[in-house]
Parts: sequence; C-alpha cells; structure tokens
Amino acid sequence: LNKENLNILITDPVADVMLNTLKEKGFHVDYQPEISKEELMKVIENYDIIIVRSRTKVTRDIIERGKRLKIIARAGIGLDNIDTDAAQERGIKLVYAPGASTDSAVELTIGLMIAGARKMYTSMTLAKSGIFKKIEGLELAGKTLGIIGFGRIGTKVGIIAKAMGMKVLAYDIMDIKDRATQLGIIPVTLEELLKQSDVISLHVTVGKNAKPILDEKAFEIMKDNVIIVNTSRAVAVDGQALLKYIKSGKVYAYAADVLWHEPPKEEWELELLKHERVTITTHIGAQTKEAQYRVAVTTTENLLNAIKELGVQF
Ligand code: MLT
Repeated sequence: LNKENLNILITDPVADVMLNTLKEKGFHVDYQPEISKEELMKVIENYDIIIVRSRTKVTRDIIERGKRLKIIARAGIGLDNIDTDAAQERGIKLVYAPGASTDSAVELTIGLMIAGARKMYTSMTLAKSGIFKKIEGLELAGKTLGIIGFGRIGTKVGIIAKAMGMKVLAYDIMDIKDRATQLGIIPVTLEELLKQSDVISLHVTVGKNAKPILDEKAFEIMKDNVIIVNTSRAVAVDGQALLKYIKSGKVYAYAADVLWHEPPKEEWELELLKHERVTITTHIGAQTKEAQYRVAVTTTENLLNAIKELGVQF
C-alpha cells in the first residue's frame, strides 16, 4: 500500500486546514461535503479512508459496500453516526478528535441555559417584530444544576455554573466522586439528580440502540418548572414525553442544540420545535472558527498516525 493509491473522501464540511495538510502530504483527497447517502453508496467502494462529521451516517451497508475502507475518521467527538460494530468486524480503524471542541460546546451550553431561563427566544421574537414587552424569566443564581455526563464538557459547565452562584450536582456512569468533590460539585445518583435539580444539562455520548435517559419515569420525578438543556444528543431524551411535559408546564424550558432527526421530520418533533418555550439551535456546538480549526488539526494528526500504522510512507 502506498500513498499514490490511497483514496480519501471527505463527506462533511471541515476546516480548510485538513484538506490542505492532506494534499500537502501528497494524498489524493476528494471533498464532497454535501454528498447524499445514495451517491455515497455508489462511490464508497473507491475509497480507503472516509472523513465525516455528524451529517454523514456511516451505516453497516456503507461499510459493507466500502470494500477498500481501512480508516473512518470522525472530525468531532460523537461516534453515534458510525456503526462501530460493523467497522470493528472489518478491522477498520476509527480516529476522532475528543477534546478539540470542548470550550465551544461549553459556551453554547451556558448560552442555551440562560436562553431557556430568560425566555430569550420569545423576547427576541417580540423585539424583532417591533413589540417591546417585558418577558419574565427565572434567575439561575441559587438554583441547583444537575449535570448528566461528567466528562470534559459536563465538568467545565459545572465549574462555570458554580461561578454563577449555582449549586451543582453531577451524575455519571463512571466513578466521578473524587474529581467532582474536589471541584465543589456534588456526585449523586441519577434519581437524586432528577429529584433535586432546577436545571438539568445533558452531556452524554450515546450508542447505536441507546434508550433515552430522560424517559417518562424521569420526567415524573423531576421538579416543577425544570429547565432542560441538551447540547449532546437528542436521543438521550424521550421527545414525546418531553412534548407532554412542556405542554403541561412542568418543564419550564427545553433548550437544545440537537434534534432527533436533523432536519426534523416526525410530527411530534415539529410540534415541539414550534413551542415557544423550546429553544433549538442547529447543531452548532462545535461550529466555531476556533473549534473547527482544532477539530480539523487533531483529526488530521490522528489520521496521519493511523495511516502510518498501515505502513504507508509519506
Ligand atoms: C461532535 O460530536 O463533535 C458534534 O456532533 C459536532 C459536530 O460534528 O458538528
């Protein structure tokens, strides 16, 4: 195997630095950031490496059709759009960029938390239509924030929330006791977190067949007027249960960067989107100039190492 016959396909928008570095190293790279699933199915057999973000779904059928595939690179954190089992069965290497977009995701989370608490969407919509009316919201200082998923992003959100005067609880499937306690954050069970939090923020990774963490039962035990923030993955929340509790008023606000389908397609999803106490951004957590630069650099570095491991000289 040599670099002249190693074909690379990029199927989602990535920062220029990635394409430029790979080309400088002499690799053959095709950039098709809007390729459809049908087109991808047609061309995947020509490529050894595919580089994706969250839009492209690297499903089992794509992997099976991609007879030459040796590496799948994810320019980002989540691997939920990649059938990792299918990749593993074929011995395909996976590379990604954990940590590269943390700060941008944290900043958007704090922004959405405030947007939900202050009904900023409603207030902004009024202002833009020329209606100047005061909209009452909730203050975050003194409230309890429950963080589900105490990894890189969840931890930073907790530190900032503490500086804002919030009491912070955290739950994770890993043992976070010492790390949380050292930061003045209280490690709790999921049930305790659901019962005590005024604001719940999700920072989880999800697998292929993941069940929602915030399901009907979880909504039942939450406090009234709870604000839910989600900058991780929509499937962590049962959307139909959420719609029910937003409508009943139990959920004060849902502020999220992710949808169950991007773009949305289910009827309940569209109804939820239209609700005035639901604030949704278009999966922009990592979409800053700085984060995308770091994601591209880290993914490229990890990819080049993986290419070396294949024995390819460059
Ligand atoms: C990620 O997992 O890194 C996010 O989904 C960001 C993205 O790919 O835009």
